[in-house]
Amino acid sequence: MFKITQIDSSAQAIFTNPESKIVSLRKFYDMITADDFIPSPYQNTIENGQFQWSAPSNIALVKYWGKKEHQIPANPSVSFTLNHCKTITSLAFARKDSDGISFDLLFEGKPKEDFKPKIQKFFERTLSYLPFLKDYHFTIDTQNTFPHSSGIASSASGMAALAMNLMSLEKALNPEMTDDYFFQKASFLARLGSGSACRSIKGKVVVWGSHVEIEGSSDLFGIEFPTQIHSIFDNYQDTILLVDKGEKQVSSTVGHDLMHDHPFAERRFAQAHENLSKLKTILENGNLDHFIKIVESEALTLHAMMMTSLPYFILMKPNTLEIINKIWKFRNDTKIPVCFTLDAGANVHVLYPENVAVEVLKFIQDELATFCDNGQYICDSLGAGSKLIMNN
Ligand code: PMV
Repeated sequence: MFKITQIDSSAQAIFTNPESKIVSLRKFYDMITADDFIPSPYQNTIENGQFQWSAPSNIALVKYWGKKEHQIPANPSVSFTLNHCKTITSLAFARKDSDGISFDLLFEGKPKEDFKPKIQKFFERTLSYLPFLKDYHFTIDTQNTFPHSSGIASSASGMAALAMNLMSLEKALNPEMTDDYFFQKASFLARLGSGSACRSIKGKVVVWGSHVEIEGSSDLFGIEFPTQIHSIFDNYQDTILLVDKGEKQVSSTVGHDLMHDHPFAERRFAQAHENLSKLKTILENGNLDHFIKIVESEALTLHAMMMTSLPYFILMKPNTLEIINKIWKFRNDTKIPVCFTLDAGANVHVLYPENVAVEVLKFIQDELATFCDNGQYICDSLGAGSKLIMNN
């Protein structure tokens, strides 16, 4: 049990535990609520126009798995933002007289009806935060830089790119908006589309979910990791081994739901807080041995949660395990700090610092590519977040 013993002048609450040791400092006031993202009446009127943004995929180091109502995460998570794997989305808008939500959806320039229900739901969910949604007809044209059937989820990058476009329009309607608000609200909106999308807006390392040691962290949106990251993580590499390029066996909606009444849920959520505390220190001090332990344990824990839920799933394939064992042997033999993480699927993300890229890529080509579907893998690295491509 924590109790507040002192509140300092900068509105920081100092929490102490029963033994009265100071355990953390955390911003206590200034908590942003969802209502803060309801806009004031628009100042401008715009008839039509177009924006285009790209937004990257991200890979979680501490995993988000389990959520509450309104896309609130059951535990905090942290991710590396990717550079090359991204979605590029343009949003054309034309003012209309009729009420209601109206849009066309194109994928690579062609109508894509089966993507529409997700966008329709997203627009309905975000209408109170973006009242202009019913004033325009939208044409959304989207494409991914990674192959469509690669097993790489495009929901994070896709929802982030759409949210950025919508915020560009809101900024055009209300130009006095600050940059902080712009990115925070973009992340808030992206979260309502797909939880982990809120980590694809801005910053190389992004925390989502309230954590007592991470100032400014929120369940409502992702924030850039707030302190200096060790230089070993500059341009950190992520080579994605495409083990299974098929559709996801379990949708994340179903997956998150499995954490309700899961026998290990509460312990898992507490563990994520602990792992994020440890990882915070590691990201600052660059200790890769410790980094590897947390990151691999998080990946296996995510899969363990799926294996121990009801119904239960095994999302790894035999080749996933072959790759993991090869990575462990290579690391043991060479002492090169390479490790793996996994999404909710069979593909393997191989993570390593840039200064060992030559050796690791040779290892991947010689020993791991054979376990990939058609020998395919994608070389990526840390990126900075979404980018504006066109503003008309
Ligand atoms: O954003 P969602 O609902 O697709 O969930 C993503 C969950 C994981 O990718 C498995 C973990 C994470 O934190 O990204």
